[in-house]
Amino acid sequence: MTALVLDDIRQSLRPRSWQPDTLPPILDPRINALIQDAPNTLFSLVEQYGSPLNIVWPDILQDNARRLAGVLQSSGVPFRIFYGAKVNKSPGLVEAAARAGIGIDISSPYELRDALHAGTPPELVCASGPAKTRDFQRELIRRKVLISVDSIEELQELDGLLAECSDGPARILLRYRPASATASRFGIGAVSFSKCLRLVAAQPGRFAFEGFHVHLSGYQYDGRVKAVAELIDFVREARALGLDPQLIDIGGGLPIQYVAAQVYDDYLAAQSDWHYRNGTIPKSFYPYGSRVDAAQWLELLLAAPCREGLALAELLKAEALTLAIEPGRSLADQAAVSVFRVNLVKALPGGTHVVFVEGSSFSACETWFASEFLVDPIHIARDGGAEAEVLPMRAFIAGHSCLDDDVVTNRLLTFHRRPKRGDLLLFANTGGYQMDLLENEFHRHPLPRRIRADRDAAGAVVFTPDDAME
Ligand SMILES: Cc1ncc(COP(=O)(O)O)c(C=O)c1O
Repeated sequence: MTALVLDDIRQSLRPRSWQPDTLPPILDPRINALIQDAPNTLFSLVEQYGSPLNIVWPDILQDNARRLAGVLQSSGVPFRIFYGAKVNKSPGLVEAAARAGIGIDISSPYELRDALHAGTPPELVCASGPAKTRDFQRELIRRKVLISVDSIEELQELDGLLAECSDGPARILLRYRPASATASRFGIGAVSFSKCLRLVAAQPGRFAFEGFHVHLSGYQYDGRVKAVAELIDFVREARALGLDPQLIDIGGGLPIQYVAAQVYDDYLAAQSDWHYRNGTIPKSFYPYGSRVDAAQWLELLLAAPCREGLALAELLKAEALTLAIEPGRSLADQAAVSVFRVNLVKALPGGTHVVFVEGSSFSACETWFASEFLVDPIHIARDGGAEAEVLPMRAFIAGHSCLDDDVVTNRLLTFHRRPKRGDLLLFANTGGYQMDLLENEFHRHPLPRRIRADRDAAGAVVFTPDDAME
């Protein structure tokens, strides 16, 4: 056998990846390097930890935090960043936020425990959420965590609690429900807001009032600008009451670019029922092809005209206010991937196929929200070109669930090579709610494992379990 033929055989037995061409993910170079240069590592990790396997990169979250801090710093507006820990269950990512020196936005005693365990000082923790239990409230007061009060009822309850205990005053923000969000169950509307301010002003020993909080659905910065403009009236009202608001926290909602904007727009313009196994285009999607990333979004927000002829940054400075943000998804941008091992490919009537993977839609959960993750997985064939059939194939992806509608994708993806048992499908950028929001032990399958990728002192990448704390 000639050396050339041997080379061909060797090449064909090596793992090889195929980038999808419909909605290819934007990839951080660290993740691209793993896929391109060390696919064998991925196979070994899945062999060791099972499928699906979630891999997180804490360093990437740290980089994202630095970038947002850089934008805020150069605006000259005093700022605080709280990592929205609800976005992912990874303790490694919480630890990365602590290492970056930013605060944590928590909504449960468990998230609080993770934040403190990671080394975040309690004064850098902000507790949001509308339904805190009494025990949780007591702990927040005792630890001097900043509490975002969601309703007049919660404020009255805290008032009662503080009357009975000596751990006060409670550090609080009042969460505002802007005029644009009247249908939301979160926050306090304008009428009750003034009442709350008077209640707080009447109890200076019980409440250490620090300012205002708002979090909106959606990803447009102008809604946040409008909300800040509305809040300025309350800042002045609070000051007239003798209170000292220092901060406006505008919550999360900073966007991620999952796929290139033009590619995404082209896909949306071209898609039809034909692209979905159930013949139905979902009514709404996350804006996967955002034209701006989180840092650019923040620049636009700071420069946007707000009120009284001032841009938002200038207004905040003029009012001596700190701007706080609570990015969840955008801090987790690129910080995780989910890898599914292929189990079987089955032909279906009508010429389509289903690729069965080890795992389920609970680790790729958009279909549960009647939507779709509009980012294609990367197919990594175990045996390179040799075994994979070149025939293109349209297929949706399903897991081990016995429910017809429980699928990883309803979308029919084009595979240029037919996946084989043992191949991997890698979904990039799953750190933002996608990988573990709905995970469960359906069919008694154990929860997927999560591991973290870090660099050791010599600069080599090492993978270790990133298990939940006991
Ligand atoms: C109060 C609050 N802050 C921050 C976030 C994080 O939002 P995102 O992940 O869109 O940045 C959320 C998400 O629901 C939230 O409810």
